[in-house]
Amino acid sequence: MKLAAATLLSLGFLTAPAALADPIRDVAAVNAIVEQRCAMCHMEEDDAAPALGTVKKLEPAAIADMLISGSMSALTPDLTPQMKREVAVFLSGKPLPASGDLPEVTLK
Ligand code: HEC
Repeated sequence: MKLAAATLLSLGFLTAPAALADPIRDVAAVNAIVEQRCAMCHMEEDDAAPALGTVKKLEPAAIADMLISGSMSALTPDLTPQMKREVAVFLSGKPLPASGDLPEVTLK
């Protein structure tokens, strides 16, 4: 009985976060990723890379796709998909709906 209760409790604990929106947990960390990992290439508009100001006008899903499966994914192999989604929400200033197992990302 005790075990069953503990199992239910831990299952609840594990599944609850997926159902809830996931606000960006550490804005400073996401900002640091952008400054240290994106800004040097996206500093200003040039033939190769659009400026960050241009990237910020994209829909968050477009930025997330670029980071998760597009050409920016090779530059960010160490970031989890959810971190990339947080970067996309941070840059675009718009929330991202849940996708598969990944919870919604909100700004606050
Ligand atoms: C080594 C240089 C470099 C780094 C570092 C880099 N990018 Fe890029 N990025 C580019 C280039 C070049 C392009 C345009 C060519 C392409 O689409 O592959 C691009 C394209 C993009 C696009 C698509 C823009 C569009 O108009 O469709 C997004 C979004 C993007 N980058 C986001 C990021 C983010 C966010 C980071 C940091 C996590 C990052 N990039 C890091 C060079 C870089």
